Amino acid sequence: MANGAGAICSRPVTEPLSGPTGTANPPTSAARDIARLLAGIAAPTAAIPPKWFYDDLGSRLFAAITALPEYYPTRTEAELLRAHLPAITAAAPVVGGTLVDLGAGDCGKAAALFPHLQPRDYVAVDISAEFLAGCLQRLQRLHPQIAMQGVGTDFSERLELPPSVPTGRRTFFYPGSSIGNFTPADAVAFLASVRTHMGDDGALWIGVDLQKPRTVLEPAYDDPLGVTAAFNKNVLTHVNRAAGTDFALADWRHVAFYDSGPGRIEMHLEAVREVRVRWPGGGRSFARGERIHTENSYKHTIPGFREMLQRAGLRTAGHWTDPKGWFAFFVATPDGTA
Ligand code: AVI
Repeated sequence: MANGAGAICSRPVTEPLSGPTGTANPPTSAARDIARLLAGIAAPTAAIPPKWFYDDLGSRLFAAITALPEYYPTRTEAELLRAHLPAITAAAPVVGGTLVDLGAGDCGKAAALFPHLQPRDYVAVDISAEFLAGCLQRLQRLHPQIAMQGVGTDFSERLELPPSVPTGRRTFFYPGSSIGNFTPADAVAFLASVRTHMGDDGALWIGVDLQKPRTVLEPAYDDPLGVTAAFNKNVLTHVNRAAGTDFALADWRHVAFYDSGPGRIEMHLEAVREVRVRWPGGGRSFARGERIHTENSYKHTIPGFREMLQRAGLRTAGHWTDPKGWFAFFVATPDGTA
């Protein structure tokens, strides 16, 4: 094994927030993250980056979202993979290399592919290092022949991998249309950073949510059971814990709508009354109806996403869609080599 089962490398996600009082220690990345978070809340158009959704409860609420009848992406992608796996696997050589699972979560989606991809190494990458460690320990017992390691890192800006990740053929697996949570420009930059880690014989397997009528899109992000509303509002609980803010959940309501111009779902939290929010060293007021932007979820088109891949130095080796054309799964390889 390249690393012990569940071994976590790369930048830890639980650094102390600052050095001892009175010292000139540079701010840690966690302290910088909190400073950025508070600056976003204080900004005239307030925003909280979506990575703050995923504390323990947020991850569980997201798992519940994926089981909702209205939230079609997870189910549709799983059906696509089931229906087309032999063709997807044949689009670029994968067997025996390293499978790099981006946003691995409980590692379940990638583990289902092990029998087909037969990776020699499995690298699970996720912002939550602690969550990964437990999942990898369980998975390693089931697949002792695969060398496994976890990388706890925030790749919401660019992908960085530690030297312990084997340099042979790497297949990057990025399911669930998480690429939709990047703006198109940031998505291209992120895909280009994946390209740099791919070598000349690697591949990217990526799920992409497609544009469709708002009558389908909006209920997927504003379900009648209120699970997505709870997921959105839980971000405030996480931020209160991490940054010392005093958001009261009852002051905010969930708002989600599709903007067909940029082709994206926007999620916001809207103040239901005039609200004052305080944090150590600062605070701000929100008028009734004022919003905090919490997430964009871009919906792409097949030609549009092909072009984004191309701009990132990747070419489409194949793509597959479901019969309704709601979701696409792409296999991309380094441009000029496939
Ligand atoms: C993680 N990501 C792909 C989800 C999405 O559909 O954009 C996050 C989500 N937000 C609300 N529901 C699901």
